[in-house]
Amino acid sequence: MLLTHIFLVLSLAISAWGYPSPAPHVRHESRHALPDGWTPIRRALHSTVLPLRIGLAQPNLAEIESLLLDISHPDSPNYGNHWSAAKVAETFRPSQEAIDAVYEWLASGGINASRIKLSKSHGWIEANTTVVEAENLLKTEYHVYRHFPSGAEHIACNMEYHLPEHVAQHVELVTPTLHFDIKIGESTGNLQKRSIRPESGAKLGPSSLGSLTTGSLQSIADDLENCDQRITPACLRALYKFTYVPVATHKNSIGIVEYTPNVYVPSDLDMFFTNFSASQVGERPQLVSIDGGAIQGAQSSFNDNGESNLDLQYAMSLVGKSQPVTLYQAGDFVEGASFNNLLDALDGSFCTFEGGDDPSQDSVYPDTAPGGFQGPEDCGTTKPAFIISTSYSYNEVDLTPAYTARQCAEYAKLGLMGVTVLYSSGDTGVAGRGNLCLFPNGTQSTSGKIFSPKFPSTCPFITSVGATQVSPGAKVTDPESACEQVIFSGGGFSNHFAMPEYQKSTVESFLAKFPPPYPKSIWNATGSRAYPDIAANGANFVVAVDGEFELVFGTSASTPVSAAIFSAVNDARLAIGKKSIGFLNPTIYASSFKGVFNDITNGTNQGCGTQGFTAVPGWDPVTGFGTPNFPKLLEKFLLLP
Ligand SMILES: *[C@@H]1O[C@H](CO)[C@@H](O)[C@H](O)[C@H]1NC(C)=O
Ligand SMILES: *[C@@H]1O[C@H](CO)[C@@H](O)[C@H](O)[C@H]1NC(C)=O
Ligand SMILES: *[C@@H]1O[C@H](CO)[C@@H](O)[C@H](O)[C@H]1NC(C)=O
Ligand SMILES: *[C@@H]1O[C@H](CO)[C@@H](O)[C@H](O)[C@H]1NC(C)=O
Ligand SMILES: *[C@@H]1O[C@H](CO)[C@@H](O)[C@H](O)[C@H]1NC(C)=O
Ligand SMILES: *[C@@H]1O[C@H](CO)[C@@H](O)[C@H](O)[C@H]1NC(C)=O
Repeated sequence: MLLTHIFLVLSLAISAWGYPSPAPHVRHESRHALPDGWTPIRRALHSTVLPLRIGLAQPNLAEIESLLLDISHPDSPNYGNHWSAAKVAETFRPSQEAIDAVYEWLASGGINASRIKLSKSHGWIEANTTVVEAENLLKTEYHVYRHFPSGAEHIACNMEYHLPEHVAQHVELVTPTLHFDIKIGESTGNLQKRSIRPESGAKLGPSSLGSLTTGSLQSIADDLENCDQRITPACLRALYKFTYVPVATHKNSIGIVEYTPNVYVPSDLDMFFTNFSASQVGERPQLVSIDGGAIQGAQSSFNDNGESNLDLQYAMSLVGKSQPVTLYQAGDFVEGASFNNLLDALDGSFCTFEGGDDPSQDSVYPDTAPGGFQGPEDCGTTKPAFIISTSYSYNEVDLTPAYTARQCAEYAKLGLMGVTVLYSSGDTGVAGRGNLCLFPNGTQSTSGKIFSPKFPSTCPFITSVGATQVSPGAKVTDPESACEQVIFSGGGFSNHFAMPEYQKSTVESFLAKFPPPYPKSIWNATGSRAYPDIAANGANFVVAVDGEFELVFGTSASTPVSAAIFSAVNDARLAIGKKSIGFLNPTIYASSFKGVFNDITNGTNQGCGTQGFTAVPGWDPVTGFGTPNFPKLLEKFLLLP
């Protein structure tokens, strides 16, 4: 009560001092429901100080898709004319008009200019305000929310916030407002494993590989007869006709992203190489530590090491000994990191782009917690590799449209710089991570009926990779099917992003020929971004984890495999003085690239109590265009300028 009175008196006083009467406000961002696990527990104290950050709108952002197509569409005369990082930063720097509009608005809310800071890049404006001041500026209410079961608390505003009409056009987003703390700590959906050991628990030995008929008891490394039961680098080379000896390794680069606490185990790399790529024993990825990312031996479980071991064992063995692989290890062991922390390190202009990271969602460095990384946040400290492969994802619904839009625009900027960004499409078919699906009110539950797409796969400026399998009993030379063992290939339609130009005719033709047999309300039939774009095998990968060989399943596996194959295409282009392939999608959706993927026409990606979508001839939201046919891909890409 007392606080409310003070608030009233203050605002009366402010009007008495002659500030202009408030301009009409418009709703700027809203959410329909809280993210899974969060409930409001009380109003935020009026005196609490919030680090309010206002992200300024970037000029030319509306043109980013056409700018990107201009340099990555195979029919464009500018194909391959990638931009410098400086040109990217310059093109999207906010205007003075935007800065002035926000300063005026803050002043009208009683925020003295001496309390306001403008970032160096002019990307964002920061002011420490009380909850009362912020509520007045944003016409909202701040509450404290608690997360179950972690008990974490978080201040956020209640479902929506507003800005004066003339300010709204200059602002992308304001934090802290609607965004919740859901850092990435786990890998894609549910990367799963099945032990290669027999049920008896006997130690893995030649006898458990009973189907080997060659009489060779040492290894399955060259066995192509049982790729339906276990995938090895040799199986993948056979499936995708992938034999290539790199010749431009000093010009080329490929990066694998891992989020702490998931780290690789050096001895597991050697165990894998010993059996499957003997010349690489002792080889390690080139570590790029981001925000304190380090390889520590303390963890030893599938959850701690499975993803990193899988990604590196397959990426490194497939690109071969001579091509170094970069490991972007992001985050310390206390806070971990998010996609934005990685992007900050790769692009100095992203650190502050549209308000900078969201401190409620992205990790903040230096990390003051005991054992945390004390250094400054990495910002533009590393040059991005030509191909960046990531096997981690969110449910799109857990992020606000403004948050996903900001990050997605950064993927477009990396594309402008000639970088190929690959993301796994998720392992739960049309359902979200944890098999959560949506209700019409936006909440998530395993009993929801509405498909729940994955981000960043729904961003139109990345290439999303789904999973296939060699079906039980099938040969390595038979067509693969959509993965239906242990996991289901993520696929579907975004609820945040409209359909990009490059995929319109392909996806519209799919929908006309094979209309999904579901009410349009459950799969977003409004014409939004459809995924995945491509696929690769994701079933029964033999991976060394904590001293044992396991069978591993997931689009997590499909993604580094695809990255290695496209990296070979880059090598061949760089060797003859051409540019990297950059943003892939406009090429692979172009009619001139027809037939460079092995079409997958069997299998579904079930979820949300349905069969999901069905793999059919041509592109589909289960396996995209299908799996790479390396010789054909190489031939087409070498024809491009
Ligand atoms: C703003 O703050 C500065 C420094 O504290 C002070 O000198 C100035 O009078 C203040 N201006 C207003 C309008 O309150
Ligand atoms: C806001 O407060 C923090 C912590 O006290 C301080 O580091 C920061 O410089 C302040 N920002 C502004 C714009 O005054
Ligand atoms: C790895 O190599 C060892 C020694 O040759 C062999 O005993 C074992 O079966 C191999 N394991 C696999 C999974 O190929
Ligand atoms: C959303 O809808 C579901 C299913 O009808 C219901 O169980 C849930 O309570 C609703 N949640 C909110 C916040 O309205
Ligand atoms: C469907 O996707 C579009 C984006 O293309 C979005 O505007 C719309 O809100 C989505 N529908 C639902 C029900 O989420
Ligand atoms: C089609 O997929 C199913 C389910 O995974 C599998 O059992 C079957 O063998 C596949 N058929 C062919 C022809 O690959």
